[in-house]
Amino acid sequence: MKLIITDGDPGTKAAEIVKEKLLAAGDKKFVLSLPTGGTPLGMYKNLARMNADGEITFKNVITFNLDEYEGLGIESDQSYRYFMENNFFKFIDIKKENINIPNGLASDLNAECEEYERKIKAAGGIDLLVAGVGENGHLAFNEPGSPFDSKTRVVELTEDTINVNARYFANAADVPRRALSMGVGTILGAREILVLASGAKKAEAVRAAFEAPVNPECVITALRNHPNAVIIADKEAASLIK
Ligand code: GLP
Repeated sequence: MKLIITDGDPGTKAAEIVKEKLLAAGDKKFVLSLPTGGTPLGMYKNLARMNADGEITFKNVITFNLDEYEGLGIESDQSYRYFMENNFFKFIDIKKENINIPNGLASDLNAECEEYERKIKAAGGIDLLVAGVGENGHLAFNEPGSPFDSKTRVVELTEDTINVNARYFANAADVPRRALSMGVGTILGAREILVLASGAKKAEAVRAAFEAPVNPECVITALRNHPNAVIIADKEAASLIK
């Protein structure tokens, strides 16, 4: 696993890498998996600008988001679908039909998760997966204890995650208790993985990624089982690595 330490926003570096990959794919389809959260905002801004300037196009890109809250859809400004639409998709030339986000409003959530896995396979698998990391080391919503071979499924959020994510909601009671999340196995199935980490709050998770024993109690350690994973961290997030 590789570490890139950035002077400023890791999202700026991530956007450059995504651009390189898109240019290398040329006219071929490219399957890109995308995260939400505060950390990737700079990446989305940069990619949207590159698209507006004609440096890159998303017309051959198929996206799969990592996760979504149960019970939230586009009408809710806390849903990940709303986040993606308003921070990224409305600014780029992607085809609507190529956007995939688990549907938190599906009447049968398990069937929705199975269908999501089927769609990823049908698209030819994920070329590049970009993720953030939770303070507890989670990737997407794979909380501590998530098996490394897990697939897209309904997950229970931990109290820690509910409290950390409460900053985006009016109060902690409004944070959904469950979510649909790509599994650790789904993530490890991507051909390349980029994880972005910013700020001192992520320093312990980044340290663990490199130094803790590989085990499901700290999900980010799963990346050490992947041949092509890179963590992009700013100085604060990388500060605890020996
Ligand atoms: C949520 C998401 C994760 C994300 C994490 C960190 O829990 N499910 O996919 O990586 O938050 O978010 P932030 O970048 O806002 O710290």
